[in-house]
Amino acid sequence: MLGANSFVGRRKSIYLGLATAAAVICLLNLVFLTNTVDETIIRIPGLSLFRPAPPKLEGAFARDQHPIAGLMNEANRHWQQYEQGRSTDFAQTVAKYRETFGRHPPPGFKDWYIFARKNGAHNVDDFQQIHGDLRPFWAIPPAEIRQMAARLQTSESIAGLRLRNHKVVSKSEGWRVETLAQSVGRIAEYLPDMDIAMNTMDQPRVMATYDDIQQYLKDEESTRSIPDDAQDQFTSNMEHLYNEEAPVNEEVDPAWFSVAGQLYMDSAKESCSLESPARNENMTAEDADQLYKSNFGGFVSNFTGSTDLCNVGPVIGEQHGFLFTASSNKITRKLIPVFSECKVSVNNDILFPANMYFLKDERYFYDNKHDYEWEDKTDSMLWRGVTSGGVQVADNWHRLHRQRFVKMANSTEMENSTVSILSRNNRDQYQLDSEFHPSEFASSHFDVGFTEAWGCIPDCSFYEGVWTYKDQKPFNEQFKSKYLVDIDGHSFSGRWRAFHQSRSLGIKATIFREWHDSRLFAWRHFIPMDNRFTDLYALMTYFIGLRPSASDDSTVDNGPYVPRHDFEAEVIAAQSREWAQNVLRDEDLDIYLYLLLLEYGRIIDDNRDTIGYSGNGSELARFDAEHPFPPSLQPLVVG
Ligand SMILES: *[C@@H]1O[C@H](CO)[C@@H](O)[C@H](O)[C@H]1NC(C)=O
Ligand SMILES: *[C@@H]1O[C@H](CO)[C@@H](O)[C@H](O)[C@H]1NC(C)=O
Ligand SMILES: *[C@@H]1O[C@H](CO)[C@@H](O)[C@H](O)[C@H]1NC(C)=O
Ligand SMILES: *[C@@H]1O[C@H](CO)[C@@H](O)[C@H](O)[C@H]1NC(C)=O
Ligand SMILES: *[C@@H]1O[C@H](CO)[C@@H](O)[C@H](O)[C@H]1NC(C)=O
Repeated sequence: MLGANSFVGRRKSIYLGLATAAAVICLLNLVFLTNTVDETIIRIPGLSLFRPAPPKLEGAFARDQHPIAGLMNEANRHWQQYEQGRSTDFAQTVAKYRETFGRHPPPGFKDWYIFARKNGAHNVDDFQQIHGDLRPFWAIPPAEIRQMAARLQTSESIAGLRLRNHKVVSKSEGWRVETLAQSVGRIAEYLPDMDIAMNTMDQPRVMATYDDIQQYLKDEESTRSIPDDAQDQFTSNMEHLYNEEAPVNEEVDPAWFSVAGQLYMDSAKESCSLESPARNENMTAEDADQLYKSNFGGFVSNFTGSTDLCNVGPVIGEQHGFLFTASSNKITRKLIPVFSECKVSVNNDILFPANMYFLKDERYFYDNKHDYEWEDKTDSMLWRGVTSGGVQVADNWHRLHRQRFVKMANSTEMENSTVSILSRNNRDQYQLDSEFHPSEFASSHFDVGFTEAWGCIPDCSFYEGVWTYKDQKPFNEQFKSKYLVDIDGHSFSGRWRAFHQSRSLGIKATIFREWHDSRLFAWRHFIPMDNRFTDLYALMTYFIGLRPSASDDSTVDNGPYVPRHDFEAEVIAAQSREWAQNVLRDEDLDIYLYLLLLEYGRIIDDNRDTIGYSGNGSELARFDAEHPFPPSLQPLVVG
């Protein structure tokens, strides 16, 4: 087996920065250091927060002027600010909460904090997604939200979940709702009565217009207050929760309509501002690119921007299956409380950690024993999947995102094509080479293909002769490649967490948003890729290098030269893995869901303006002293 033990030799003691308890911790650390390969969290009573340190990496970054070096530096700077800005006790946490959101934390926040800390939360401030998702609902009266959530219990493609007296009640069936019921069940003791309406479709459901959302956000701001005498408890016995005896209130209509088979952007642009590329016809594609791509090389410089349909809608509206041939797409313009696993930038669904993350499905679940050391992995980029992404017919499939990607990575398909890369000239400067023939590079380094055809009308016979179907690769095969591409299917991709946890480097192109986005930093924890894949070869020649060994002989012109940046890739992969062990753990899913449902519980509470945690946090001073925060992460690179 590859690389089983080279791991140990590369470890070096860190934790040097820890002043107090250093001796104890170092001892523990030694135990971990000699404890061979497995890095899964080892629970030690009273010291559950300490996790084994990742190995330090030896090597040096290329000292060159490639734009990716700048993007990595920028990402590190942002991440460091984020890391150093963490609250480190309860008093700071509540003060920061009030400063950021203009409100008290919700009732029960103290118990949540204790839960989060005992479960090793690395950062207790970063729940921006929850606030972003729930903010507009402050404009809707709580009783109306409850009525709608009750009505949705029986709505089409919605699963109903109800919390009564700290127990989960559900009549809906299916693995998704059963998984969510179990997850909510684990934290039900802390939560008030509520109805949860969970979307059972792959696609998100709520799309209020831009003007409505702006008005709601204004309303939200006007309701902010921090009353001294806030009650730290939810209101009990409120009306308008789902009641099996009472018939469904027909007046509350979610007003669903189908946009399946239509261009999504035709509806979605109404949710964009007038100035955005989606609505401002004076903006060219180049203007739009400027909003999220580097001038030189066209790398994604703002990942959020690259997933924002108001920016990218005009150029990918007919190049992504979800946007032009979604199999089903039932939406509403009303702001209604629907919990979804993912959404696109124009949606107002309430995100929760996807049920897939709670399952131990071997297609998506990371297991350290299936992984290899970086130096034992091959210099190749791998992707496998089925032809999902939208309904395929004979004359549309070539525009679907997965199909486009598989073609673009196919050396035979590319044999007469050229693409743009950045190559280095003999003055050691990078220059744009827009005439690069990628076929040979693709055939040496890419292993990309469909495993089966799926989702075609009337059947998939039009794919005959188009693809060579490749073997499905379980994770222990996939992780032999250094570079793993993750692209959307019908909706978000369930492998992304495992890619972060692995020692390989994840490369991501997506339009979907998930619960964890604000904690993942492009260029520090993964490589962002344009949804058109126009940067694919520029990225891969940068990391893998092009003719790196021929570089010294500048008298012979053998075509473009790109130095190899293997160490850069290894560092990002290691940072990502370490980060995943801190912020994408199973515990983090529960911590997120728990706070989400506390916040939701407050939004639907008739007394939402006067309830909340109003203390200064000092009552947990002792708890904080006894449970020191996990230390800030130290740089992984030596030398
Ligand atoms: C587009 O340009 C025209 C002509 O300059 C101008 O009248 C119009 O207001 C512009 N539209 C937007 C949305 O900026
Ligand atoms: C990145 O893009 C997002 C979404 O379009 C935008 O809100 C944000 O301001 C951009 N960030 C920067 C630094 O330009
Ligand atoms: C590339 O060009 C050759 C010669 O014209 C042709 O036979 C071949 O089909 C072309 N390949 C593709 C993928 O278009
Ligand atoms: C690559 O393209 C060629 C030419 O279209 C095709 O025959 C082959 O099956 C493709 N390979 C894969 C892996 O799909
Ligand atoms: C925090 O509040 C407590 C009473 O709840 C008070 O005794 C204490 O002085 C306060 N601490 C600070 C720093 O204001």
